[in-house]
Amino acid sequence: MIARTPRLVLREMTAGDLGPLREILGDPVAMTAYEGAFSEAESASWLERNLRRIADDGFGLWAVDLPGVGMIGECGITRQRIEDDEVLEVGYHFQRAHWHRGYATEAASAARDWAFRELEAPSVWAKVRDTNLASMNVAIRLGMTVRRRFVTRYRGIDMPHLAFAVDR
Ligand SMILES: CC(C)(COP(=O)(O)OP(=O)(O)OC[C@H]1O[C@@H](n2cnc3c(N)ncnc32)[C@H](O)[C@@H]1OP(=O)(O)O)[C@@H](O)C(=O)NCCC(=O)NCCS
Repeated sequence: MIARTPRLVLREMTAGDLGPLREILGDPVAMTAYEGAFSEAESASWLERNLRRIADDGFGLWAVDLPGVGMIGECGITRQRIEDDEVLEVGYHFQRAHWHRGYATEAASAARDWAFRELEAPSVWAKVRDTNLASMNVAIRLGMTVRRRFVTRYRGIDMPHLAFAVDR
């Protein structure tokens, strides 16, 4: 187990988590900021990449379990590039059935604190597409402010982003 919050458990992801993960990555609404749902094969390779990242770095996106229900989301810390800089980012993606209950902010607060404590990260960042208001609100609730604007090219589209961060 990585962390426990008042309502949630963050734990290492496993190859067996593809089912609940598909409910996020295969949902066109949840994946709006990524220009649409991932196929089954894209979701499987996303999971494989995440497991490799955890093996290499010792951290990555963790499974978020709601006790009595099961895995409802993923949240954790990854190395990311923002233009020429490498930063530690908190990521959060939840099944649509579990939005609007404060779970993303609760899990992401635990991940942010894990990075401050275990990695002694000077700052934790969140890269947010400029159309993703729900994610911006999570970043703000994490105590983050906008530090930069940048554009990422993904799936053939130039996507303006905001880089939020909070310092230790
Ligand atoms: C980003 C995402 C995780 C945000 O989820 P969310 O449910 O809006 O955020 P939170 O879990 O912090 O919940 C906050 C909401 O819960 C409400 N809430 C209800 N009970 C609560 C409680 N006990 N504690 C805190 N908030 C509570 C808040 O009032 C707030 O309501 P609102 O959505 O009407 O503003 C979700 O939209 C998502 O998974 N999107 C797809 C993936 C994605 O884009 N990820 C980010 C990429 S950068």
